[in-house]
Amino acid sequence: MTLGTCYYPEHWPRERWREDAATMRELGITRVRIGEFAWSKIEPDPGRFDWAWLDEAMDVLHEAGLGIILGTPTATPPKWLIDQNPSILPVGRDGRVRGFGSRRHYCFRSPAYLRETERIVTALAERYGSHPGLVAWQTDNEYGCHDTTRCWCDTCRSEFRTWLKDRYETVDALNEAWWTTFWSQTYRTFGEVELPEQAVTETNPSHQLDYRRFASDGVVAYNALQVRILKAHSDAPVVHNSMMLFGDYDHVDLADDLDAIAFDNYPIGQLEESPFSLDVKEQFLRTGHPDLVTLSHDLYRGLKDQPHWIMEQQPGQVNWAPNNALPAAGAVRLWTLQGFAHGAEMVSWFRYRAAVGAQETNHAGLLRHDGTPDVAYHEAKRVAGELAAPEHRDVHTAIRSTGDATDRPRVALLVDFEDLWATDIQPHASAFNYWGQLFGFYAPLRGLDVTVDLVPKKHAGREDEPHARSLEPYDLVIAPAMQLVDEDVAQRLDRYVKAGGRLLLGPRSGARTVTGRAQEAAPGPLRDLVGARVTRVDGLRPDVQRSITMLNGNESLTYRVWADLLEVEGDGVALAHYDDPAYQGATAYVKRSHGSGEARMLGASLELEAMTTLLEAWLGELGIPTRRLPDGLRRSGAWWLNFTSEAHTIDGVTIPALEAVPVS
Ligand code: GAL
Ligand code: ZN
Repeated sequence: MTLGTCYYPEHWPRERWREDAATMRELGITRVRIGEFAWSKIEPDPGRFDWAWLDEAMDVLHEAGLGIILGTPTATPPKWLIDQNPSILPVGRDGRVRGFGSRRHYCFRSPAYLRETERIVTALAERYGSHPGLVAWQTDNEYGCHDTTRCWCDTCRSEFRTWLKDRYETVDALNEAWWTTFWSQTYRTFGEVELPEQAVTETNPSHQLDYRRFASDGVVAYNALQVRILKAHSDAPVVHNSMMLFGDYDHVDLADDLDAIAFDNYPIGQLEESPFSLDVKEQFLRTGHPDLVTLSHDLYRGLKDQPHWIMEQQPGQVNWAPNNALPAAGAVRLWTLQGFAHGAEMVSWFRYRAAVGAQETNHAGLLRHDGTPDVAYHEAKRVAGELAAPEHRDVHTAIRSTGDATDRPRVALLVDFEDLWATDIQPHASAFNYWGQLFGFYAPLRGLDVTVDLVPKKHAGREDEPHARSLEPYDLVIAPAMQLVDEDVAQRLDRYVKAGGRLLLGPRSGARTVTGRAQEAAPGPLRDLVGARVTRVDGLRPDVQRSITMLNGNESLTYRVWADLLEVEGDGVALAHYDDPAYQGATAYVKRSHGSGEARMLGASLELEAMTTLLEAWLGELGIPTRRLPDGLRRSGAWWLNFTSEAHTIDGVTIPALEAVPVS
């Protein structure tokens, strides 16, 4: 378990490096990430490398006892490089070139940029691959940030055509998969296919879905190129820093190629940018939403089922949200404990000292602009001291699906980025979005004090394959907004249920084939398993509230946004029906026994309280303990974390406002 910070030696005079390294160590920091935007300092002119400053910085940091995470500087190609090769620049969806002057100004498929990447990464890897201070590499920085996953340039167009040919082999197969007879879209050759943008109105959703896949593959291949070079010159692990709940590329594929996965944790900025109501934004103004933050922890830990890293964490206010509130006193400590208790093995603050110019001048650091300690420095120091205690050393291994974890999750949520894209492309209700649907199950579980794993759908229930993830450790597996279902995933889920597992499908499950066409009836190949089919769907404005009635006990549960109207088939048994007369008595919730297990489908996007009631009942039957926690009081592994402004007492332990206390 380690603490780190992001440091930019190139921003400060050399005389300052030693002092900064010393105060980092005083705080308790032992890792420092550097270099990820430093290309123009490393190579000021084409082919002329200035290693002296970086050699010295590496040595100073290493001699101070800091392990170095060295970033490849490819998120910021220098001006001279762009002038030499303007084709590196990405093209926006409006068809205009996105120019130099900020960052991430490159196309992932530009042949010139792939060559330049190979050159600079090789140079860096050769020089520092066996530096004694090096503990890890970071590839690039936040792939996809600033809407850069998809590019609309000529290279992307022609490579997309090749990608389609590889996928479909014949253009007839593509026409069939995309159902192009509609609106006379039939293609005669792959060369006729354009990028799905700049048409008069909505382009074909299957076309869009494949373009998302293609773009994601580009990011993954670009990262794999860097990994291959770094591995050829160095034994240090390779990681990448992703963003919280970022869905533009497939993080499952990316994680498969990395030694560890990291994400950047900005709780206040995230809540500010989220679609939550103003009430919730007020409630968690100075801490961020605790369940939203742990959802990222569970996602990134779950990608590899191993401890993840927090490469960047907010120390004070950020600069990039529409409004940028100060954190509460205590928040810096809470987020840090929350991260470790939720499975992270490193937490690193962004950034050590506030930038005195350029785009991020308004972003806080552990040190202020003038280099003196800010409030966060002292909070970080306090938590570093606490974490140094021997009893907290293994706190990050408490939550694991395997091994001797003390808090082994019994409930899993399936996650899939293709489902996310399908949802994004045609939401059909303005408030229906993938993370929202996932959160609709996740938040009630967390409020019931249930520890959850997120498991990649594409690896779930496989056997003997690389990255296969068993579903066996889980008593209950929930699939939220799993729109794309084929025989393969249906069989894996069928096997899990038959062997005694419990499965819950959420609204919109199995609505589409993997090419984005409608199933004959949702949930497609899972119909038999749940004993029902969807006959109609209802996509509602978020201010419309309706209800379902449980057949056992007559309890009424409310929902908004979405309803799949179910019709029971085969061995299915209805558990609830809808109350809206427009639905003519349709079923809302159904179950079917299968082997020694049971599968259910819930058609409605229940509200928090209603979903809590529904899950509480089923978890109770399954013998999974639950209890209703106050809003904002959460348990992560062996810690109680209080994100509210009042004290709470639980199991005889009092957790003061904005404090964290070990579970007794
Ligand atoms: C991250 C990024 C950093 C910095 C930070 C500011 O998204 O990786 O370079 O921009 O945000 O909060
Ligand atoms: Zn491009």
